[in-house]
Formats: sequence, C-alpha cells, structure tokens
Amino acid sequence: MNTSPAPPTSDHFDRVATAFSRKADEYDAFGDAHINLARMRRKVYDHVLRFAQPTDRILELNAGTGIDAAFFAQQGYTVHAIDIAPGMLDHLAAKIEQQHLRDRLTYQALSFTEIDRVEGGPFHYIFSNFGGLNCIPDLSLVTRHLPKILVPGGRLTWVIMPPVCPWEIALLLKGKVRIATRRLRKGGTLAHVEGVRFMTYYFTPSHVLKMLGPDFQVQRLEGLSVFTPPADRINFPRRFPQLYRTLVRIDDALSPHAPFNRWGDFFILTAQYTPHAG
Ligand SMILES: C[S@@+](CC[C@H](N)C(=O)[O-])C[C@H]1O[C@@H](n2cnc3c(N)ncnc32)[C@H](O)[C@@H]1O
Repeated sequence: MNTSPAPPTSDHFDRVATAFSRKADEYDAFGDAHINLARMRRKVYDHVLRFAQPTDRILELNAGTGIDAAFFAQQGYTVHAIDIAPGMLDHLAAKIEQQHLRDRLTYQALSFTEIDRVEGGPFHYIFSNFGGLNCIPDLSLVTRHLPKILVPGGRLTWVIMPPVCPWEIALLLKGKVRIATRRLRKGGTLAHVEGVRFMTYYFTPSHVLKMLGPDFQVQRLEGLSVFTPPADRINFPRRFPQLYRTLVRIDDALSPHAPFNRWGDFFILTAQYTPHAG
C-alpha cells in the first residue's frame, strides 16, 4: 500500500512563491537585526565547513535571497542556487553583481521537487538552509532525484524544522496550546506569510534518513536553537541579554548530543552518499 502523502498541487507552489517573493525586500534586513538568527546561521556555516572540500561544487536548494550562496562563493566554492520565489532570486541576482561573484555563483528558478532539471550537475554537496524543505509534505519528491545529481561520496547538509521544539512546547505552561502543539499536528500546519497561507510540514531526523534511504550515512546531526528561542522571538536577546547568554552556553554545549540533536527550532543533518554501502 502506498502511504505517501498526496503531492502538493501547483497552487501550493504558487502560494509559496508569492509569499516569499513578497517577503524578499525585507528578508535580509530582518536577519541582520536578529541576534539569534545570525548566530544560527554561523553555526550552520561552521557545520558545513567541517565537511565541504575546497573544490566542491555546491547546489543550494531553496536559496532565498542568496545569503548563504554568496557566503560560500566568497569562501571560494562554486555554487548553483535554486529557488521558486522570483522575488527572492532578484535579490540573489543583485548579490552576484554587487559582490562580483559571476564566475562562482549561478542561479535558476526551479522547485527542488524538479531538481532532475537542474543545470550544471552533478554536484559534490547539496545544501538546504532554514526550513525550505518543510514546505513540502513528502521529501521523496526531492530525494528520488539525488542519485542523478549527487556524485558518489558527495554530501548533503539539510537544515530542517523538527516536530519537537522545546521553546514552543514550553508555551503549554502559558496555556498557548495552539502554538505549543502546532508542529505536532498530523497533516501539517498552515503558515501565514505576507497574507498568503500555505501548508508546512515538520520532519524528524529519522524520517529524513528514511527518505534518503540506505545509500546515505549520517555524518553529523545537531539541534539548532534548542535552548535559545526560535526565530520568531527576535527581541528576546535584547530584552534578556544575561539570560540569553546563559542559554547560548547551554545550547552550544548540549545541542550536538542526543536527544537534543533531534530537537530545536531546526536540526542540521549532514549525510554522505555512498551508493550500495548500506
Ligand atoms: C525561510 S526561506 C529560507 C531561505 C534561505 N535558505 C535562507 O537561509 O535564508 C525558505 C525558502 O524556500 C523556498 N522554497 C519553498 N519551497 C520551495 C520549492 N519547492 N523549491 C525551491 N524553493 C522553495 C522559498 O521560496 C524561500 O525562499
């Protein structure tokens, strides 16, 4: 029996593209002003830089405005970035010009469910940051294409929102049951972005690994913002600086270790593609 969720409709993808295109103009400024989000991005970079080899050609899924694509291109990697939101890609294109990255950073308007049509493959590294992959109900729509576009021995690092976010669950103590349990709902959660509604879905690391299949072996798994507040609590570090610093210390110490490495606002999973090793 096929138990895969129904594939998203083109209307779903249109909504996602519209929502993020509307968000694009304010996206970078929001991140720049966000102390904990900036810290989370640095942790993602530290994680990837442990594994990426200097000559790697990176494919970035759901690249958004290209913050990470530009960062990795600046580090000397060759990067091809894809996204479905034209408004986000306009900002990525502007970064290429402003930072003189034409020889190292290219882009394509493409859904990650269609990466069999990606230009310039195969790649050594497939990167996805900050929950773009939470916008589809069925990760096999992406994982089924990987053997065609990832070289044997290549890696992926995916940053995905899990169902268990201790900060949100703690909101039960304040009686905020809807927010506290939103990630745990079967069938996904309705997101509201810039007046557009679309479904989002939360995945455990085990589920992601199941979707990747036995040819992928975990190399590192860590929680991202397990004890520090999630991305929507932008003011917390400024309002409670001392508490925030304490939480950062706890977060840094515990988030790489089980069970905390499966929890958080996100988790960072790196796996290596070794066909037939599993
Ligand atoms: C929260 S933003 C993250 C952007 C970027 N990775 C970052 O770290 O700033 C999510 C991005 O996922 C993109 N996205 C969602 N569904 C997608 C799909 N099916 N294919 C490609 N991109 C998608 C959105 O357009 C948006 O730019």
